[in-house]
Amino acid sequence: MSAQVVVVNELSKTFRKPFSGKKVEAVSSISFQVNEGESFGFLGPNGAGKTTTIKMLTGLIHATGGSATLLGQPIPSPETMRDIGFLPENPYVYPYLTPREFVTMCAQLSGVPHREINARVEKTIARVGMADAGDREVRKLSKGMTQRIGLAAALVHEPKLLILDEPMSGLDPVGRKEVRDLIWEEKHLGRTVFFSTHVLADAEMLCDRVCILRKGKVAVQGKLSELLRDDARRAEVAIENAPVSLVDELRASGLAPRTAADGIVVEVAGDAMTKTVCERAWSAGATVRSISPKRETLEDLFVREAL
Ligand SMILES: Nc1ncnc2c1ncn2[C@@H]1O[C@H](COP(=O)(O)OP(=O)(O)O)[C@@H](O)[C@H]1O
Ligand SMILES: [Mg+2]
Repeated sequence: MSAQVVVVNELSKTFRKPFSGKKVEAVSSISFQVNEGESFGFLGPNGAGKTTTIKMLTGLIHATGGSATLLGQPIPSPETMRDIGFLPENPYVYPYLTPREFVTMCAQLSGVPHREINARVEKTIARVGMADAGDREVRKLSKGMTQRIGLAAALVHEPKLLILDEPMSGLDPVGRKEVRDLIWEEKHLGRTVFFSTHVLADAEMLCDRVCILRKGKVAVQGKLSELLRDDARRAEVAIENAPVSLVDELRASGLAPRTAADGIVVEVAGDAMTKTVCERAWSAGATVRSISPKRETLEDLFVREAL
């Protein structure tokens, strides 16, 4: 059995609002584990408590209850942070340095051997797609570029564990794909990646396991393959060139065809109903383009459990 790289045990954080002193329970007694080599998605709607949890884990704020370990060491542990790559929610990158200078400084601070620094910085800057902009002052760069430099700072010392708070935020679709590829590469290099996101498509493509937070509590956690309901009996029939009479006929028999880009899609349950819908489509002169088994998506799970 592989080692547990992150262990969170009934961790809680209660904030007190300034002036009113009113309590805000941002995180209430959450527990989960991340195994070595896993890519773990920490999900939940805005305000669910993801950043608060990550701040507790990385020692930026103190927990008000419970405990946690990173790489076997109880939090907060400044020494352990050397073996961890951390991308905060809004990474602060010194505005008057260039990406090359900033990432070099991060490499020095995290103990990369002196003679390896230059090569390591170049490699990392290239990996995050910043080689061409490496000498421009950070303050002149876009939000997406700043995010990439933050990511380079988290990666430069080749840490065993990456903790990334919304790593795709501020990036365009190409940038998002590049960061997804980077996370994928890190996982295949044997590193453990713990990242938060509210972009479910990204999580669905990348994660072995997920933990979904809802209002500071764990709503559901586990392997994605086990959490998503795989209802083999349900399918979607995509039909092209459907005449109005067919749509009316399907509606009359209790089905709810919906319009798609080039025709209609009908959700069916069971083989008999699939056959009936296809036969009706053919006899109305329409084309059955596909019959696809319907599997629950992470979005369905999220709506079911997190909202
Ligand atoms: N410093 C703070 N003081 C008071 N409340 C806070 C503070 N930081 C976060 N919160 C509250 O804690 C809850 C969780 O926030 P956060 O962890 O940032 O959520 P997420 O990252 O999942 O969007 C929210 O209700 C937020 O308003
Ligand atoms: Mg957040």
